[in-house]
Amino acid sequence: SDNLQDLASFPIGNIVSASRLASNSEDEFRSLLNSDYNSITAENDMKMANIFTGPGNYDFSDGDAIVAYAKANGMRVHGHVLIWHPEYAIPDWLENFAGTDQEFEALIEDYVKATVEHFAIEVDANGNSIVAAWDVVNEYFDDNGDVRSTLFTQRMGSDYIERVFQWAREADPNVKLFYNDYNIAGQTNKRNSILSMANTFQNSGIPIDGIGMQMHFSIAWPSQQEITQAITDVAGSGLLVHVSELDIGVNPNDDITSLTVERAQEQEALYNHVSSEYSSIVPSGQQYGITVWGVRDQDSWRYDGGTEWPLLYNENFEFKIAHRGFADGL
Ligand code: XIL
Repeated sequence: SDNLQDLASFPIGNIVSASRLASNSEDEFRSLLNSDYNSITAENDMKMANIFTGPGNYDFSDGDAIVAYAKANGMRVHGHVLIWHPEYAIPDWLENFAGTDQEFEALIEDYVKATVEHFAIEVDANGNSIVAAWDVVNEYFDDNGDVRSTLFTQRMGSDYIERVFQWAREADPNVKLFYNDYNIAGQTNKRNSILSMANTFQNSGIPIDGIGMQMHFSIAWPSQQEITQAITDVAGSGLLVHVSELDIGVNPNDDITSLTVERAQEQEALYNHVSSEYSSIVPSGQQYGITVWGVRDQDSWRYDGGTEWPLLYNENFEFKIAHRGFADGL
């Protein structure tokens, strides 16, 4: 079989939405998803803006539909994401919340605990949680490795991140807890800040189980050597390692109008580098898996009106050569 999930010795994931999983016109998508993948992440449906509808009010319906799909098809769900700072990822009412900082923090604590608890309920045939893990906090550091100033740091202080991990652990003693960020490969200071935080957590009893390396790359950056170094460094933490949002752009300088053979080959080589280095460098007990961030190029958040082709399948759900490169490295 050349199905990705059969070739890999760790879970292989892609992203979904509840509406796509339910749509009458998405049979091809679902059949590809079911053959190549055994792990799914909600692209947007399990983010705070979608779930946290008001103080103490939660809408878990889209997440529930995704969990039900995973259960029916023998897949794992990766929970994404409890705390993320962009304005569009935060519900407007919370952004504008006029209460005290203490009241704000109480809302966040309830949100984190209610959400993690809710999704801890569904178990698969082996008694394992279907939602195996959560990205607890996304993108806490900027590219220099400094803590970003966000609504959450402003309201709760920059040490809020420790409490969020603790709340998640209180809500579910078993779910794996991840810190997730981009440019962990590519920005050394950022990587060092993340690894130093993880180390502090481990030494002071703050729960953390894994690090998610998003890997939104292009063929121009970062270099293969830097990717290898980053995977090596993150694996050195001893934590689970998730390649959590893999996509590789081929048009970083906006100088092509269709995917050329040459660019497709460079993309193939870099996908191969990621899957082969992950497979060989990360010890098997730390291999949480690799999640690709989209199926067809046109489904990608980076598609940019048809000027970027970052994924493994073309418009007809056919394998690009990047798929072979990725598959060969597994
Ligand atoms: C992106 C989605 O793909 C888009 O549909 C949405 O408009 C914005 O978010 N880092 C993350 C993901 O952790 O949640 C982001 O997903 C991509 C960057």
